[in-house]
Amino acid sequence: MWFFNKMCTSKARLDGKTVVITGASSGIGKETARDLYARGARVILACRNMEKTNKAVEDIKNNPPSRMTKDEYKNNVGELAIYFLDLRSFKSVRDCAKNLLTNEAAIHVLINNAGVIMSQYEKTEDGNETTLQVNYLGHFLLTLLLLPKMQSSSASCRIVNVSSIAHIFVDIEFDDINLERSYAPFRSYAQSKLANILFTKELARRLKEANVHGINVYSLHPGMIPTEISRHSNLTSFPSAAFFSNICIKLFLKNAEQGAQTTIYCSVDEKIANETGLYYSDCNVATTYRKANNRHYAEKLWNLSCRLLHLEPEEDFSTFLKTVSRQML
Ligand SMILES: NC(=O)c1ccc[n+]([C@@H]2O[C@H](COP(=O)([O-])OP(=O)(O)OC[C@H]3O[C@@H](n4cnc5c(N)ncnc54)[C@H](OP(=O)(O)O)[C@@H]3O)[C@@H](O)[C@H]2O)c1
Repeated sequence: MWFFNKMCTSKARLDGKTVVITGASSGIGKETARDLYARGARVILACRNMEKTNKAVEDIKNNPPSRMTKDEYKNNVGELAIYFLDLRSFKSVRDCAKNLLTNEAAIHVLINNAGVIMSQYEKTEDGNETTLQVNYLGHFLLTLLLLPKMQSSSASCRIVNVSSIAHIFVDIEFDDINLERSYAPFRSYAQSKLANILFTKELARRLKEANVHGINVYSLHPGMIPTEISRHSNLTSFPSAAFFSNICIKLFLKNAEQGAQTTIYCSVDEKIANETGLYYSDCNVATTYRKANNRHYAEKLWNLSCRLLHLEPEEDFSTFLKTVSRQML
């Protein structure tokens, strides 16, 4: 049943544009890649499993999105490329950014889509809880490293952060961000998704204050989609979420193509070309939970994220970006 299932109706073409999508080897990311490739973009799949991503590329090349015939597809597609990215490692994020900055002439759209729900507590080589690093911190770093290139690419670039309605269940544990004292798989996932929204708002605010025009930032909930994301998850440790999830699955389940629509909308739709810092669901602006609306909270998370990455959060945003690039590349 699909009570909420709006498709992106924009006919916008992306010829000559380059889009980077993290976690495009399956699920929502793969369907987003298919759609943007069909619009003529050079689509970069930034992924960690090369064999799986090569299969995804073959599948995308051979099968159009449902809105197109094979002939329409064949004559209108862009390019597909794969870059290695493992968000569990800051070194891998830095290497991927270096490769993108060296090899790509421009980046117009960055879609931070990759995500996990871990079944067990695990730390990355950088000392962070894995869900936090993959879903949020790795994307925070990747975005900061690619921003200067995006700034010089065009006067209308977009950064799209795939979040989730799960953000309503939790707060950010500022004193225990890695949840060493209170880990539960879904708690960590939901915290990382709240962080995606706060990051979107804070980045949009900082870009505006620094008078950086032409880079808009969007966050979104894609819907409930039976993808591989739940492969490691066990929601029993978070009963209210399990209850909510079961109801949603029955009432609102989408397939992966439907689940990609709000990401596509945020990436291309002309109607929202002048919006930034907002959260979307079903191809519309949506309301965020009160914690996601607190500006001081967003700023506090930004500063904590910088500390976890050993970065000094400087007052001046342009200087900050230059320092990040100097330190990290
Ligand atoms: N499905 C839903 O109902 C739902 C609801 C709300 C929000 N979302 C969000 O939608 C996004 C996409 O999820 P999905 O449902 O499409 O799940 P999915 O099919 O499992 O896709 C997740 C993608 O992230 C990649 N990934 C995982 N760990 C990674 C790492 N360390 N480095 C790089 N890539 C990594 C996966 O690659 P591997 O195959 O190599 O692991 C895969 O390509 C996520 O951000 C998720 O939080 C999904």
